[in-house]
Amino acid sequence: MLSERRYHITVCRGPECGDRRGSRALYEAFLASVAAHRLAHRCQVRWQSCFGRCTQGPNVLVREVTPEPPGPTPENGAAASPRATALYNAVDAVNVDEVVSQHVGAGVVVRALIQPPSLLGSRALSPSGSRR
Ligand code: FES
Repeated sequence: MLSERRYHITVCRGPECGDRRGSRALYEAFLASVAAHRLAHRCQVRWQSCFGRCTQGPNVLVREVTPEPPGPTPENGAAASPRATALYNAVDAVNVDEVVSQHVGAGVVVRALIQPPSLLGSRALSPSGSRR
């Protein structure tokens, strides 16, 4: 049942997302949005040090952590339950309510906020343009 689903919202605080792109404000916005949508009973906002997608930050992983129900498993013939998990990229404060209401509230991934891996690689550029 959808109302029983549980999620972790994990905000990157790595040196690129955190120091350069202000993920602290994003973290606070997620806390406020989860509370405003009355979803705190089934959603935890957490930190992560780096997802390896630094050039596309701030990055936020929303992962369903609903425990598997007891009983049949995919290995013994039961269908797997779909899990709504996504790594959102270049997240801005204006996106927070949409992610919380759609993903956590309705179990629907916000595909418009997902970018393919960067052609620039995962490491941030220094101010001079060289790889750090
Ligand atoms: S610093 Fe955020 S993905 Fe690396």
